[in-house]
Amino acid sequence: MDSTKLVKTAHAMVAEGKGILAIDESHGTIKKRFDSIGVESSEDNRRAYRQMLLTTPDLGRHISGAILFDETLRQSTDQGVRFTKVMADAGVMAGIKVDKGAHDLAGCEHEKVTEGLDGLRERLTEYAELGARFAKWRAVITIGESIPSGACIESNAHALARYAALCQEAGLVPMVEPEVLMNGEHSLDECFEVTEATLRSLFHHLYEHNVLLEGTILKASMVVSGDRAANRASVQEVAEATVQCLLNSVPASLAGVVFLSGGQSDEEATAHLDAMNRLGQFPWPLSFSYGRALQAPSLKVWGENISANVAAAQKLLAHRARMNGLAAMGQYDATEEQAA
Ligand code: 13P
Repeated sequence: MDSTKLVKTAHAMVAEGKGILAIDESHGTIKKRFDSIGVESSEDNRRAYRQMLLTTPDLGRHISGAILFDETLRQSTDQGVRFTKVMADAGVMAGIKVDKGAHDLAGCEHEKVTEGLDGLRERLTEYAELGARFAKWRAVITIGESIPSGACIESNAHALARYAALCQEAGLVPMVEPEVLMNGEHSLDECFEVTEATLRSLFHHLYEHNVLLEGTILKASMVVSGDRAANRASVQEVAEATVQCLLNSVPASLAGVVFLSGGQSDEEATAHLDAMNRLGQFPWPLSFSYGRALQAPSLKVWGENISANVAAAQKLLAHRARMNGLAAMGQYDATEEQAA
């Protein structure tokens, strides 16, 4: 294992004022996004959409890396230039989603376990050859009546640790993502409790599997009230609870924490990140790895005319990247949203 390279890559992923663009939607998820704008999810439309995102002028200014789906890592621009080359030229590292999705966990009703470990060593070797520098694996934890179970938390944490160890063996930085879903009526306190238990279990398993934390990035969900909760917590409450939860459960040697947006609106996700970074200094940089919260405005405008609106859609992505870059330093000013 080349520790120096892993540590360097991990630090570059969370360099000051930069974060990650998540565009690794599986075929099922991108179809849902395209359905919402009335665009057919054909291979060429997916390629055109991701080309629009990845060729955004000056993308590397606030984006350190982008997480791709397998198909995208192998695709090229209209001019025949590999996306990985376009990204490298822009100073954007290539990441790759390597899990095979969340599947029903036998014996545990309404719970999921993420699959994809079989053959992963060989797939990681190929991804590294194709130019990937980091990988992502997403586990899903649902809050509900008597769930999550210990079995669900443990089996997902164990799989994340096996994945992370394999990534480091292949020279890729593992981004470990245990997403506690926002869906439900749960309170902020319930989300705190479940997130803390999930993170404690995750870091226990990472330790058991000898994963180098200095060469690992945590992709965390924020501690928020459920989307159907009676009284939803304020931005300040979310920021304080999330930071406290991380301080309780995440070792200081971890290279960095990036957040997913998980269904929050774009501006809400930015405001939450900014509020956290205004609370002070922490052992790890707190940045972003948003999918929907970075893409939503661009997706909408691109969908209105997929050939004519490329530049307009890129402008919107560049704006969200800049707003989140500022939020990663606690310097976001919401009045700049109106000016854009
Ligand atoms: P969202 O920010 O849309 O939640 O996506 C991030 C992601 O990569 C989920 O795995």
